[in-house]
This record gives sequence, C-alpha cells and structure tokens, in this order.
Amino acid sequence: MHRTVNRLAGAGKGIAFVPTMGFLHEGHLALMREAGSHANVVITSIFVNPTQFGPSEDFTAYPRDLDRDAALAESAGVDILFTPSADAMYGKDHETFVDLDALPNHLCGISRPGHFRGVVTVVSKLFNIVKPQVAVFGKKDYQQFVIIRRLVQDLNYDVRILGVPIVRDIDGVAMSSRNSYLSSEERESARSLFRGLQEAQQLVWNDTRDASILADHVSRLIHSHPHTKIDYVVLCHPETLEAIPRVEEETLMALAVHVGPTQLIDNTVLTSNRPSMELNAGLH
Ligand code: PAJ
Repeated sequence: MHRTVNRLAGAGKGIAFVPTMGFLHEGHLALMREAGSHANVVITSIFVNPTQFGPSEDFTAYPRDLDRDAALAESAGVDILFTPSADAMYGKDHETFVDLDALPNHLCGISRPGHFRGVVTVVSKLFNIVKPQVAVFGKKDYQQFVIIRRLVQDLNYDVRILGVPIVRDIDGVAMSSRNSYLSSEERESARSLFRGLQEAQQLVWNDTRDASILADHVSRLIHSHPHTKIDYVVLCHPETLEAIPRVEEETLMALAVHVGPTQLIDNTVLTSNRPSMELNAGLH
C-alpha cells in the first residue's frame, strides 16, 4: 500500500478513503460515492479490527463476505480495496495504542471499555498506510465520527474528515452489518428506534424541551416492543457529548438498544426550530 499510494501521489492523484469492516450495505456505499466526489482515487479498507471488540463481543461471528463486498465496492466507484490480515496489522509485538481522554467516556464507550481505543488505533494506522487527503465516515456511528475528528485535530493529521447522514432501510431501520443477526420479529421491534427519534423531534417542536421527559417517552415507546432492552437513551451536546438537561438549538439524541442478542445504535440531531415552510420547499 505504501508503494501504491506513493505512486499515486507522485502522479498528482488525490486519495479519498473509506474505512469499513465489510459486509457492505447501502450505508457504506453512500460513503464510497461521497468519497468519489472529492478525489481522483477512492480507497476502501475492509478489516474486522480485533482490538475494537470486547472479549464477550461478536468478533468471530461478525459477518464476512469478501467476494460480494468487492463487487459492491466496485459498483460504488472504489478503485482500490485494502484487505489486510490481522497479523499484518498487529504483529506479535504490537504495543502502541492511541486513545482519547474524555470523548470515549460517554454513550457506547461506557459499556464497551477499550472499544474506541481500538477504533482510534486502527484508524490512525490506516491513515498512515493510505495517506488520504479526505476520509469519509458515517454519522450512524456519531460518537466515532466526533472522536475521529478530534483525533485528526489533536494529532495534526492532514486529512479532511467528512460525515455522511445515516442511510436507512425503507422501514426506517438504520442500515448496519449487524442487522443480518435479526429475526423477522426482532426486525419489527428494531423499527421502534427510529420511530422514537421521530416522536422526540415532534415533541421538541411542540415545546417539550426537558431531556428526561423526552428520554422517558422514547424509552417507553421502545420498551413496549418485544425483545428490546435499552442500554441508553441520552440527550447530549453534539460536539462534547456531555449530557444536557434541556434541548438547545441542536442536541444529539443517541440510542443504544439490544434487540434480542444484537445491539443496535441510532441517533438524530434534534433541532429546536421546526424548519420553515420556505426551507422545506427549498425556497430562499
Ligand atoms: P463499519 O461498521 O463497517 O462502518 C464503516 C463506516 O460506515 C463507518 O463510518 C460507519 O459510520 C458507516 N456506516 C455504517 N452504517 C451506516 C449507515 N446506515 N449510514 C451511514 N453510514 C453508515 O465503523 C466501523 O466499521 C469501524 O469502527 C471502522 C471505522 C472501520 C474502524 O474499524
């Protein structure tokens, strides 16, 4: 990869990068298409990164299908697929990790200790290998997106980080490689996450601003569906991820819910002002 990217740089080609763990879906493909509009060459990595999985998590069971992924990535305009082995990425003597002080101590970082240390370490390594000018991440993993932006700023990576909105299936469920674990009954319950977020936004527009009332409403709605166990429903600042008591102009509402054995996450940035008719119609 070093040789390839140095050759591309020598030829004056810009590189846009999309890191993934594979089992690609429309969410990943949207990132790849976005990447294509910012550089001459799109590189995607597929690497199920062992260091971001906890001991009781699904590293071995994580779905993999490289042939299918390669065809999908190509259809979304990817020029180079980087699929390193775990041994190539982490030799026996590997001992350097990258971590953040505060941002991982919220949301998913609480129940998944070490998860973001693994994510940030692998993304740092991938940036050093691929040397992109632009890297594209999804806002579905909102905390990851905020953390990577912080990493790039704090360690002076010369990479522009772009965020892409959540891509949803027709039933509203945010696309995820882990959706393949859901039974049809669980899938039905999974729809309650997005419905909860939508109802919260409606309540805010109808002047309910108290974070605990909004969180309770969404928790109760999700809980009324079978097989659900709520890990968190949090309203927080979209940059610092600090919990906030009342909805401000822009407030992140983030959810993590076990549906059967599968943990799903979803989020939305709640806005206090209903978009005006003019804006809705795209008129200025
Ligand atoms: P993975 O879960 O495969 O996701 C790769 C990228 O796709 C991430 O930036 C994620 O936010 C984005 N993505 C996933 N589902 C999406 C959806 N429904 N809509 C929009 N974007 C979506 O995230 C990881 O892999 C890993 O942690 C990684 C960054 C590759 C490091 O190992």
